[in-house]
Amino acid sequence: MKARVTASAAYTVADIDRRLYGSFLEHLGRAVYTGIYEPGHPLADDQGMRQDVIDLVRSLDTPICRYPGGNFVSAYNWEDGIGPKEGRPKRLDLAWHTTESNQVGIHEFADWAEKAGTEMMLAVNLGSRGLDAARAFVEYVNHPGGSYWSDLRAKNGRRDPWNCRLWCLGNEMDGPWQIGHKSAAEYGHLANETAKALRGFDPTLELVVCGSSHSNMPSYPQWEATVLEATYDQIDYISLHMYFENYEKNTAEFLALPEKLDRYIGTVSGIIDYVKAKSRSKRDVKISFDEWNVWYHERKQDAERMKTWGWPEAPRLLEDIYNFEDVLQVGCIINTFIRRSDVVRIACIAQLVNVIAPIMTEPGGVAWRQTIYWPFMLASKNGRGTALQLAVEVPTYSAAAADRVPWLDIAGVHDANAGTLTFFAVNRHGSEAMEADLSLEGFAAKSVEHTIIRHDDLEARNTRDAPETVVPARGNGAVLGGKGLTLTLPPYSYSMVRVAL
Ligand code: AHR
Repeated sequence: MKARVTASAAYTVADIDRRLYGSFLEHLGRAVYTGIYEPGHPLADDQGMRQDVIDLVRSLDTPICRYPGGNFVSAYNWEDGIGPKEGRPKRLDLAWHTTESNQVGIHEFADWAEKAGTEMMLAVNLGSRGLDAARAFVEYVNHPGGSYWSDLRAKNGRRDPWNCRLWCLGNEMDGPWQIGHKSAAEYGHLANETAKALRGFDPTLELVVCGSSHSNMPSYPQWEATVLEATYDQIDYISLHMYFENYEKNTAEFLALPEKLDRYIGTVSGIIDYVKAKSRSKRDVKISFDEWNVWYHERKQDAERMKTWGWPEAPRLLEDIYNFEDVLQVGCIINTFIRRSDVVRIACIAQLVNVIAPIMTEPGGVAWRQTIYWPFMLASKNGRGTALQLAVEVPTYSAAAADRVPWLDIAGVHDANAGTLTFFAVNRHGSEAMEADLSLEGFAAKSVEHTIIRHDDLEARNTRDAPETVVPARGNGAVLGGKGLTLTLPPYSYSMVRVAL
């Protein structure tokens, strides 16, 4: 199959916000307990944090990590996680039907984030609680001292504020499953009042208001319009979430879903413009796509297990084991964000460790990289710079998600400082190689490197005993010549093509 792609230095989308490669860690299952935190593990540091996990997170190079939820945050008392550990209460977590020991709270997470080379993106509870708990939390985290909450932080061992810039005003408040779920009007009012209070403390905070939990929600897209009309002049981002499923085991349909993601982003971008015009505002609101991933491998089984398991501590929950097909999907999702990086400024893979995550751990044992670790890492490390507006001519196919799904999914990033041009490409076709002529206009290429992820079996997985079944390898499908490059991308393959300028 043939494709023609043109990358021109003159046609750009936006400078990518590095936070496009963000992540998410929730108090859920084994994400925190026996995920990042396992005192007694041979590789735990003096705070009980697993060094092997820190190393894997560091090499993902994820600049922000959203915390502590997720659905968990909507009934969370952040004060339960401060002070001497022996005095912290055990609570029932109603979101996931588990017991929360509170042995990890804001102090431990903040220290871990620093070690893992990531910044905090914190969420406040607007489900069971509201403005007052939110303003106290922000004061505790960010105020230098001389007030009740900031002095308490110092007493608890941390004199300097953490100065977290990015705050989520609740989580998925449109979802009937959410504790303290609200109508759009109720939530819009509460979020606006909370934002006003937080801005009273610090007008420079970046605030994220909840959009839809996914684009199938019955309240979508009216939710976005109502919430934005109530909050437009107080907030900076609207949060969107989307998870990708392949219950039917239909690869073409599955890999078409990023077209639906693209429409979702386009629609919400249009609503932002509409509300901006209606509010006569000069403010720019952008999208924080702060939960995305493939999630279906264990989803139904987990829902059944939760019904009868009582209140376990740190159970195995949402431990999807990813396969090679998911590599292709994650590649297409990230490409969509790069192509939409003018409006999607922040995105967080959900989640980071054990829970629908690129990193897995065994209690007392090893940590390893799931298949999806690799496309995320390659993009996070190499997809910084300016997103290019590529012109792509390629045959398409028809799917439920969209009528014209390109067989080749490609995004390009120019990093002027590093002197590189990087293309991320997925051949969605299962039996035909993609022969692509890639013209470069206004770029002088010196050399090219091809990295490829491919496996004959779409179901191939990385496991504890075989952690390197699906890994990137050096490819030979990118050749310099003429006005650019020729690419030969095998059927069902993920590629990164890096050009030195
Ligand atoms: O990431 C798992 C869950 O998915 C989160 O807790 C929630 O926000 C979403 O529904």
